[in-house]
Amino acid sequence: MEITIRKAKKADAKSIAELHKKVVREVNSEFYSPEAIKEWIKDISETNVIYQLHNSDWIVAVEDDKLVGFGQYSVIDGEIYQINVEPNFLKQKIGKSLYDYMEDKFKIAGKEKIFLNATLNAVGFYQRLGFVRKGKNAIGLVNMIKMEKSLRDSQ
Ligand SMILES: CC(C)(COP(=O)(O)OP(=O)(O)OC[C@H]1O[C@@H](n2cnc3c(N)ncnc32)[C@H](O)[C@@H]1OP(=O)(O)O)[C@@H](O)C(=O)NCCC(=O)NCCS
Repeated sequence: MEITIRKAKKADAKSIAELHKKVVREVNSEFYSPEAIKEWIKDISETNVIYQLHNSDWIVAVEDDKLVGFGQYSVIDGEIYQINVEPNFLKQKIGKSLYDYMEDKFKIAGKEKIFLNATLNAVGFYQRLGFVRKGKNAIGLVNMIKMEKSLRDSQ
């Protein structure tokens, strides 16, 4: 399997929104109430992704032309907003590849820490990548765990 990570383009927005909804329905739904999932999916759309392409950094993981994952982050803010992997491609290091690409960008920019709000199902994944828990957070009904990783020891 040959996976390429590259910056997202406007033409990716539709597939990103579709993949995001699929991930929320099939993966996140195991950890959240049907009400939370409904509220979450309501805000996911191609238009919303296009809008956000301008105010954050987006990358995609593609196999041939198929979208198998994406990530959203902001180097300026030192924060990762999300990493999502196609449910049929989990545990094949696509999430880690997306993360490694982003971590590199934070390091190049001289950031000392990366912050994120992890969904409950992804806490173990981020711990595996060196993040530690820093508390709780919530967006509406969607509870999350604040996490951070220091980049100082790994430069
Ligand atoms: C979390 C997610 C991105 C992980 O992607 P993935 O491609 O399956 O992860 P990888 O294969 O790159 O895994 C990297 C390491 O983390 C571990 N890992 C992956 N998912 C894990 C999980 N849910 N819990 C604990 N460990 C996990 C893997 O076993 C692997 O460990 P190893 O290095 O010892 O082999 C994926 O499950 C997903 O898209 N989840 C739903 C969306 C979501 O909630 N994203 C987070 C939003 S903040």
